[in-house]
Amino acid sequence: MRTSDPQPRPLHFLRGPLPRPHRRFRRAAARVTVEPDDAWTVRYRGYDPDEEGRREALCTVGNGYLATRGAAPECPGGAVHYPGTYAAGIYNRLSSAVAGEVVENESLVNLPNWLVLTFRIDGGAWFDVDAADLVDYEQCLDLRRAVLTRRFRFRDERGRTTAVSQRRFVDMRFEHACALETTITAEDYSGSLEIRSGIDGAVSNSLVDRYRELGGQHLDLVRTAALGEDSVLLEVRTNQSGIEVAMAARTRVRCGGTPAGRERRLVEREAWIGQDITAELVSGRAVTVEKVVTVFTGRDRAISEPAVEAARWLPRLGCFEALLDEHVLAWAGLWRRFHVAMEGQEEAQRVVRLHILHLVQTVSSNTVDLDVGVPSRGLHGEAYRGHVLWDELFVFPVLNLRIPGVTRSLLRYRYRRLPEARQAAREAGYDGAMYPWQSGSDGREESQRVHLNPRSGHWLPDPTWRERHIGIAVAYNTWQYYQATGDREFLTNYGTEMLVELSRFWASLATYDPVRDRYVIRGVMGPDEFHSGYPGAESGGIDNNAYTNVMAVWVLLRTAEALESLPRQARRELTDTLRVRPEEVRRWEEISARMFVPFHDGVISQFEGYEKLEELDWDAYGERYGNIQRLDRILEAEGDSVNRYKASKQADVLMLFYLLSADELRELFDRLGYELDPGAIPRTIDYYLARTSHGSTLSAVVHAWVLARAHRQRALEFFVSALESDVADIQGGTTREGIHLAAMAGTVDLLQRCFSGLETRGDQLVLNPYWPEPLGMLEISLRYREHPLKLRISGHRVDVAAGAGMHRPIRVTCRGQECLLEPGATVRFPL
Ligand code: BGC
Repeated sequence: MRTSDPQPRPLHFLRGPLPRPHRRFRRAAARVTVEPDDAWTVRYRGYDPDEEGRREALCTVGNGYLATRGAAPECPGGAVHYPGTYAAGIYNRLSSAVAGEVVENESLVNLPNWLVLTFRIDGGAWFDVDAADLVDYEQCLDLRRAVLTRRFRFRDERGRTTAVSQRRFVDMRFEHACALETTITAEDYSGSLEIRSGIDGAVSNSLVDRYRELGGQHLDLVRTAALGEDSVLLEVRTNQSGIEVAMAARTRVRCGGTPAGRERRLVEREAWIGQDITAELVSGRAVTVEKVVTVFTGRDRAISEPAVEAARWLPRLGCFEALLDEHVLAWAGLWRRFHVAMEGQEEAQRVVRLHILHLVQTVSSNTVDLDVGVPSRGLHGEAYRGHVLWDELFVFPVLNLRIPGVTRSLLRYRYRRLPEARQAAREAGYDGAMYPWQSGSDGREESQRVHLNPRSGHWLPDPTWRERHIGIAVAYNTWQYYQATGDREFLTNYGTEMLVELSRFWASLATYDPVRDRYVIRGVMGPDEFHSGYPGAESGGIDNNAYTNVMAVWVLLRTAEALESLPRQARRELTDTLRVRPEEVRRWEEISARMFVPFHDGVISQFEGYEKLEELDWDAYGERYGNIQRLDRILEAEGDSVNRYKASKQADVLMLFYLLSADELRELFDRLGYELDPGAIPRTIDYYLARTSHGSTLSAVVHAWVLARAHRQRALEFFVSALESDVADIQGGTTREGIHLAAMAGTVDLLQRCFSGLETRGDQLVLNPYWPEPLGMLEISLRYREHPLKLRISGHRVDVAAGAGMHRPIRVTCRGQECLLEPGATVRFPL
């Protein structure tokens, strides 16, 4: 039952001098019920079924191996609750018939629900939050410890009051363990308590409404079994990929430190196993139910077989508190690496920490051996079916400067799928490697063929596979990783090979246009997903997307640089193995000097012919629909098409200013023989800013970034929007389907690299802060080439402190002042 506490709060929950979020984000945002608390706690007061899905996603606990949504343990999946558990890399394919077509989709599989736990008193109804008469209710995510707590009191039909407190975590130290502790106190009565604790394998993928018509039954039951007196086991297998997943649960009951479970009864249903345990409830005396769970899958290393391991490890695990101790210790180490403190901006700081928490819960050192990429919506839900897109472009900069070993492993996910990308290129008639826009288990293209416009109910072709710029993200990430770490072994053995194959792809996609005497790239889709083709030829892609063309040149140049920087013998070996011919390299050089870039009205055109599109009446659409972020859906439902308009879903041309510094960009344009006058960048920013609906949370990050230099106030508006992406669900309902990992990581990166002007280039750390005063004083930890660093930035100065150690000094430059930073020393640059 809903409690009355949640009060609608203003959208812009960030108090103090930060501005309101950018106006196009305001109308969709949900009311925010994140309560101010200390800077390490996110607290939700009251129970509101309408908000439950969003809270579940935001209160997910995970460890980079698996994650479980913050769902109520007593509720099975349904319209309000969705107790999803996902393990990194566990995918399964299913075929479904939609819109008269058979389509195949691969999904990150919702695994059995290990949370299942409820209770009843004196033989009454099993507790269910939706039926209970709640006296109070709160849910609290402890960011420092990655522990979710739920506390509530309820009154039963006899007027008796019971208090319940529940804590849970997914172990960061031993990645196969999860734990849920429930403490039940009869406040004003005594009675008998019956506890039901189990594992539910009868689950499906059914979180996202738009995917309802697609198959979601991914699991077959292998077996259920009782394990000794207090434990049960459930084993399932994914029905196409054949991955076994085993979970074992041990439930113990205590009262005042002594075992309190009187009787136990095994309960088994179809794909469900558990125990009913009875205990005495004495007024004022807490009864604690401790459920410890092990999870193993057929993709694990160092195991015999999942069920064997789940059963072997369960009795080895200590009690809830003992596991928690280790888990908290692991997090303490992580928080040292991910330390961020914003003096004077406690609310922003809390959200940034929440973002870091979810980032690390999705990818951590537990991810390293799993052969997985970065799922764009975390391990928190089912949007994009758990696929890996280009979002890692926004995620890696945060990892590179803290846990680069994790980035390396995520890049190896791409490297291992190089043969598949080569095959895809070959089949499409190109050279080199063509990475898929959406990637899952084996690296084939996982973009759906048709997608549903929920507004019109139409199934439409999904043209996003044309986003060939995914290859740019792979190349950019490879190079950035190398720049931040200096990991030559990676560059030699994996990175350069990927770069070479990507360059080959771009060189074969580019064709020579004799009329222009330039190279052109036709039939692609840019990051702005609104333009799938020209008016009247909606699915053919667009030509000469500026972002794609310019960045393709960048890839060609970096490939040459990477080859150049390899030791001679390694270069020789690689060029021999890959059969890199001198004339091929000459062609790369030529393309990199003669690529076509379209311009109109003194700005860089998003693509060729953009200027001929119609202007949209933004105000009229804003008036009519309120939230116009998904203009594509609105226009299609009206029988129109967004392809006809100068309207972008998200930053596209502006991605150039996000990824490259103005100097780098100017150099590139010079090389191409285009003049980029000093006003061109701000003009281009203003032009597209006025024509972007921000239908993706990535847009706020990029806009904050590109505005940071010239329009600090507007940049802050977008920074606030990015902070609110999930806590205020600015897309009006998508957070419940999974967090937006790139936007989350993007907010951290805005602090660490954008406002600070931090770059890792030319073997030095370069700082050029444009620190917005309202952000207060930032203190943030970084790791640069194995040096632990602490950066303190305010509007007046920057301090860089190096941890003590045996490393060589590093060069730090701030606005032309250069210093050699010795281990253990601090350098200060007044601003
Ligand atoms: C954006 C893509 C992004 C995807 C997953 C989409 O809305 O347009 O750029 O990769 O979401 O985050």
